[in-house]
Amino acid sequence: SKGTYEFYMLKEIDEQPAVMRRLSQTYFGADGDVRVEQSIVDAVAESDRIYILAAGTSYHAGLVGKNIIEKYADIPVEVGLASEFGYHFPKLSKKPFFIFLSQSGETADSRVVLKQVNERNLPSLTMTNVEGSTLSREATYTMLLEAGPEIAVASTKAYTAQIAVQAILAKAVGEKKGLQDAKDFDLKNQLALVAEGMQELVDGKEKIDELAKKYLANTRNAFYIGRGVDYAVALEGALKLKEVSYIETEGFAAAELKHGTIALIEDGTPVIALINDPATADLTRGNIQEVESRGANVMTFVGKDFARKDDDVILPQVDYYMSPLLTAVPAQLLAYYASKNKGLDVDKPRNLAKSVTVE
Ligand code: F6R
Repeated sequence: SKGTYEFYMLKEIDEQPAVMRRLSQTYFGADGDVRVEQSIVDAVAESDRIYILAAGTSYHAGLVGKNIIEKYADIPVEVGLASEFGYHFPKLSKKPFFIFLSQSGETADSRVVLKQVNERNLPSLTMTNVEGSTLSREATYTMLLEAGPEIAVASTKAYTAQIAVQAILAKAVGEKKGLQDAKDFDLKNQLALVAEGMQELVDGKEKIDELAKKYLANTRNAFYIGRGVDYAVALEGALKLKEVSYIETEGFAAAELKHGTIALIEDGTPVIALINDPATADLTRGNIQEVESRGANVMTFVGKDFARKDDDVILPQVDYYMSPLLTAVPAQLLAYYASKNKGLDVDKPRNLAKSVTVE
């Protein structure tokens, strides 16, 4: 039930620290060791390329997962939109492994791909929130997201759970392969820091409501920009904002804006800039200046280690690869308040259904 909440979306955003703790309990032993079914770890470790297939928000979680898996499991990852992949299979590697990301486990576009994967007798894993769902039953293996029922149409806690579960798999596979990066990756501690950081962010939600009121109340469009994993979160932030508030929003690689789309920046256009990558933080600051000088109202969500006093949201510092788990929270809250402040039905945006069972 919604309890005292007006909408499920906010309840589900608020539940994310608890989901992170539950995942930590599920996938780590009392000794602190990561615990993933041995057959899954072996099958993934053997593969020469991972193909992640999904749709919408789950696809965006896959884009983050690619960065984490390549870093800690050292296996190349290709992320595909299931709807495209299903009818235009790329040339596969010799030992492919398929991961399906799906909150519902029922998405028709993903089922089309899995059907073909099974016809070719190739190994697959579904990461899903719904035990016994179709994609779970039809795949070789399943890992559960442990997020609890997600009722709001806009996905929030399943997105962050998908990122965390991909990190858990990456660590398990990297350790199995004897990789130093994976052994050094203190994921259990990172998940604890993430849970704390998420709590801090949801406790500070009024600040995000103010930002939504100040910058998004009357706008027709908006942009999210970021580099590296922040680019992946920019795509998700944009989807969240547009689907619940109907503000036309695009996510961009920060530097790409100036190759055309900057033409759309006008006086007052909101631009949300995400900065968590130390390697490119200064470059993104430069991109912020480019849009500000053309009149944009910029909001910044920045990791604590390189934040400036006047940044709008300062994110508790975690591992760069885990930072999407925190950046997502203010992005989700911004979408929530932009929608609620317009008097919209946050949980049931027009034209959308919770699970998309048609192609
Ligand atoms: C957006 C959203 C959708 C779903 C997509 C895939 O907030 O929820 O984009 O992510 O329809 O759904 P699942 O994950 O159930 O396969």
